[in-house]
Amino acid sequence: MYTQAIDLPEPPGPLEAGSGPRSAQAAGAGSEAAEQERQQAFDAAIAADEKIEPQDWMPEAYRRTLVRQISQHAHSEVVGMLPEGNWITRAPSLRRKAILLAKVQDEGGHGLYLYSAAETLGVSRDEMIEALLSGKAKYSSIFNYPTLSWADMGCIGWLVDGAAIMNQIPLCRCSYGPYARAMIRICKEESFHQRQGYELMLALCRGTPAQKAMAQEALDRWWWPVVMMFGPSDAESVHSAQTMKWGIKRISNDDLRQKFVDATVPQAELLGLRIPDPDLKWNEERGHYDFGQIDWNELWRVINGDGPCNRERLETRRRAHENGAWVREAALAHARKRAARQRAA
Ligand code: 3HC
Repeated sequence: MYTQAIDLPEPPGPLEAGSGPRSAQAAGAGSEAAEQERQQAFDAAIAADEKIEPQDWMPEAYRRTLVRQISQHAHSEVVGMLPEGNWITRAPSLRRKAILLAKVQDEGGHGLYLYSAAETLGVSRDEMIEALLSGKAKYSSIFNYPTLSWADMGCIGWLVDGAAIMNQIPLCRCSYGPYARAMIRICKEESFHQRQGYELMLALCRGTPAQKAMAQEALDRWWWPVVMMFGPSDAESVHSAQTMKWGIKRISNDDLRQKFVDATVPQAELLGLRIPDPDLKWNEERGHYDFGQIDWNELWRVINGDGPCNRERLETRRRAHENGAWVREAALAHARKRAARQRAA
């Protein structure tokens, strides 16, 4: 339902990208005049809503911002596998287990597309992983909450993936080509994730009173952390103004949050569940739902490493990285042998 909002112009042909004054290798690259010309070409491309490609010249701040956002996004996908991975062995049926396995695997794949997109900006996978494991890089606050019941699998799909799609559909129109293209495929898969979560919630809500109570209890715990997931309010968002000017971010944190609440309330009504917000009500004048005060202290606590599961999540990733060292070494040894064989041939 969410991917219908993807509406994209045709990607540029191979000659349009990375050629002319926008090319990083443009003639006279070192001179001040050439620098100015490239900045103007970059500004014109952004104003014309054209894509910036890896071989194009770009301001250093634009490059750094993209590395920050794309790598944080990749880390979120990979750390996001942990809360659900926790339930694969406990899924209540073969069908549910197959769905959950496929979904968790998709999230790993999203992390890989995004790490690859970030690598086109000249940062290595090792540097990004090191930033995550040392606690220097952020990942989404939402994955620092525990998954206590099976209904959490439904809530994550319905709400967390629903919020992620709301945030990510506009990123399909991001000005940086590799990120925008990665997001198209990711959003299509996230749409399936959202539906499977909603279908799981529907099954619980149409089940026994105990199952419905489990669904309500999960919604009570996940609602506010999901509403926070869109980031600080626009007034507190340090990056939004610049990233919106650059066409990286297209819709502000608060506007996306509002769109999410408006879309989700009728879905909760259909499930027969109560959203845990006494201030939630339709505002005829605004044409939107009003909702209660967000606990910003909680968001900052979780972002800054002090959420319910921050330490556990990082520790699990560190252990996985250490345990996977032999796989990386074996793959490198294999690649070296193959290259040597090819040289000899
Ligand atoms: N969790 C953790 N950190 C957050 C955050 C959140 N929910 N919201 C904001 N922050 C951080 C920002 O990263 C920034 O920190 P930094 O300067 O160290 O990088 C700081 O708080 C200030 O916030 P801003 O609003 O100024 O930052 P941005 O303009 O970058 O907006 C964002 C934050 C909306 C998350 C934006 O970066 C974004 O849209 N990122 C791409 C999408 C993404 O990363 N989504 C994460 C979820 S992915 C997912 O859920 C997986 C799916 O499978 C379910």
